[in-house]
Amino acid sequence: MRMVDIIEKKRDNHALNKKEIEFFVNGYVKGTIPDYQISSLMMAIYFNSMNEEETVHLTEAVLNSGETIDLSEIEGVKVDKHSTGGVGDKTTLVLGPLVASTGAKFAKLSGRGLGHTGGTLDKLESIKGFNIALSSNDFVKQVNDINIAVAGQTKSLAPADKLLYALRDVTGTVPSIPLIASSIMSKKLASGADVIVLDVKIGEGAFMKTLDDARELSRTMVKIGKAFGRKVVAFITDMSEPLGYSVGNKLEVVEAIQTLQGNGPADLHTLCLKIGSHLVHQAKITETLEEAEKMLKKKISSLEASDKFKSLIQAQDGEYPDLNDYIHVGNIVAVKSEKAGYVKSLNALEIGLSAMRLGAGRAAKDDEIDADVGIVLNKKVGDKVEEDEVLAYLYTNNKDISDEVKTVLKAYTLSDTEVPKKELILDIID
Ligand code: URA
Repeated sequence: MRMVDIIEKKRDNHALNKKEIEFFVNGYVKGTIPDYQISSLMMAIYFNSMNEEETVHLTEAVLNSGETIDLSEIEGVKVDKHSTGGVGDKTTLVLGPLVASTGAKFAKLSGRGLGHTGGTLDKLESIKGFNIALSSNDFVKQVNDINIAVAGQTKSLAPADKLLYALRDVTGTVPSIPLIASSIMSKKLASGADVIVLDVKIGEGAFMKTLDDARELSRTMVKIGKAFGRKVVAFITDMSEPLGYSVGNKLEVVEAIQTLQGNGPADLHTLCLKIGSHLVHQAKITETLEEAEKMLKKKISSLEASDKFKSLIQAQDGEYPDLNDYIHVGNIVAVKSEKAGYVKSLNALEIGLSAMRLGAGRAAKDDEIDADVGIVLNKKVGDKVEEDEVLAYLYTNNKDISDEVKTVLKAYTLSDTEVPKKELILDIID
């Protein structure tokens, strides 16, 4: 088989077969096929796409390029959730303990943030001592003991995806539905859970910009799950404005704890209840979704959910934060509105990029993160604002942040007339 024939076949818009797909994935991992040929193929796939069968074969080839996690020693249905990435998205920190407090087994491998999106691992590692490097044995034992473990993806999990993603990132071929679907699903399938809820974000701060694209991506991932005997449900949720109020690692941990205690922002609380109900119901803890939601609300009010977060932190060697003495920054700068009105839009991408430049995220893979810095929004879409009222606070250790103040101010668009609150859950595909 010759790589150039595979490239030409896809360039001419024909479907690739299983053998051809395995050939290029395995050849790339082994180093026998060079970057320039894989780049060319990725671009051909970007333009001509892949059908369902090709996408399943691609997922399987990427999945089989490395190890898979065996969760069979964990009793009961194993559940997992994945977000396609957003700004202020601390859902896992809330959802994991919340769902685990009902008895469901939450076994999650997470990644780091890059660019304007935050990563769960960075948030967890902002908790002093928290260990994300669990061995498979310890991971399984912890889920059996306390119903929850959240660890870092190892290098051996879907290694082909790491190579392909890095190449796509620098060749303009990330936003392709079959490539995104196979990339996400290969890692999720390798992580071993029986039930996976996907949170597909759309809007300024997300990969998917339109509802139609998000629906197609969701359907593709649900079908891939089915082809591998897993139950997958996809939520399509708004990411045109950040989720919750806090963006930045420790700030998001604080907001997650507040949400677990029943004092969090309404959008984050609702999203966790809705996704959580699906996980709990699919894990067969309750017979209906309604019962699941009721149970989750009780777990929050009884503080069992926040206690479960404490157990998770303890089990992974972390120190539970003292919220009264947790965030330490040189400066908290208020960004004030220049006029009165109603918030019409709040650009999540700009807020994410600004938080990243303050030090909360990485522009490049090896950049260091400052766990304490970030942005706390004071106003979100639909809120009324007076002239000179605070829109957001910047938590910073930088001396001169006048550019960031301007960026955050520009991220807000005000209207003279009232604006309805944003719809958060736009569709559910299963
Ligand atoms: N997230 C992934 O894991 N892969 C993609 O291709 C895009 C987002």
